[in-house]
Amino acid sequence: MSIQIKTPEDIEKMRIAGQLAAEQLRMIAPYVKPGVTTNELNDICHDYTINVQQAIPAPLDYHGFPKSICTSVNQQVCHGIPSDKKLKNGDIVNIDVTVIKDGYHGDTSKMFFVGEPSIMARRICRVAHECLVIGIEMVRPGIHLGDIGAAIQKHAEANNCSIVREYCGHGIGKQFHEEPQVLHYGVPGTGIILEPGMTFTIEPMVNTGKRQVKVLPDGWTVVTKDRSLSAQYEHTLLVTDDGVEVLTRLPGDDL
Ligand code: MF3
Ligand code: CO
Ligand code: CO
Repeated sequence: MSIQIKTPEDIEKMRIAGQLAAEQLRMIAPYVKPGVTTNELNDICHDYTINVQQAIPAPLDYHGFPKSICTSVNQQVCHGIPSDKKLKNGDIVNIDVTVIKDGYHGDTSKMFFVGEPSIMARRICRVAHECLVIGIEMVRPGIHLGDIGAAIQKHAEANNCSIVREYCGHGIGKQFHEEPQVLHYGVPGTGIILEPGMTFTIEPMVNTGKRQVKVLPDGWTVVTKDRSLSAQYEHTLLVTDDGVEVLTRLPGDDL
């Protein structure tokens, strides 16, 4: 299946799904405190998705994933499985939510501080967020995806951080993961050229140490090989006629 250009009807539904995903991250924020378990956060998000949003949590049963959100703590890079382990003061945790509403997906994630993280922990979150913002601000018709990947990589490496290469952003719509792959590293002038109506995510994973990762025996949780800290932020984006619309940004919120 090649890259789909969304119709105005598709886009209206993508907007709704994107706003629901964003509202979920806003809803869960006050619960992310020392002593809460990631399973408790999962259950709150699950119930909210089903009962309040009347939507579907896309991760649940996706290729066998056992929970409704991903929670990735400290050296976990992505796809962390919620568990009965408590968050503790100083942790950083990425919460990644994806909802399906009326057949369309909205996918977004951000880092939360548990109590008071170290300067290093806060720094990796800042750099990862800057990488996402740099990518978003480049999105417009005519630009190559390689231009975006190269700019994200350059910013991470200029800050002595590294970009994970095994996982990437993705087209999104009726499917959770569609074409194209959106690499967070690369060479300017390469890759596909963006066109109005494309919808995809940017979701850089940035490590304080080396870029290498491994998957834990649970088959899902991705961690840094050198156990360095990792951070990730994600938005779902629409290429408009003259730039970008951030489908998972709530009115008045920052990126
Ligand atoms: N939300 C993740 C992404 O940004 C994918 C999670 S897949 C799961 O693409 F199965 F782990 F939930
Ligand atoms: Co995604
Ligand atoms: Co996601």
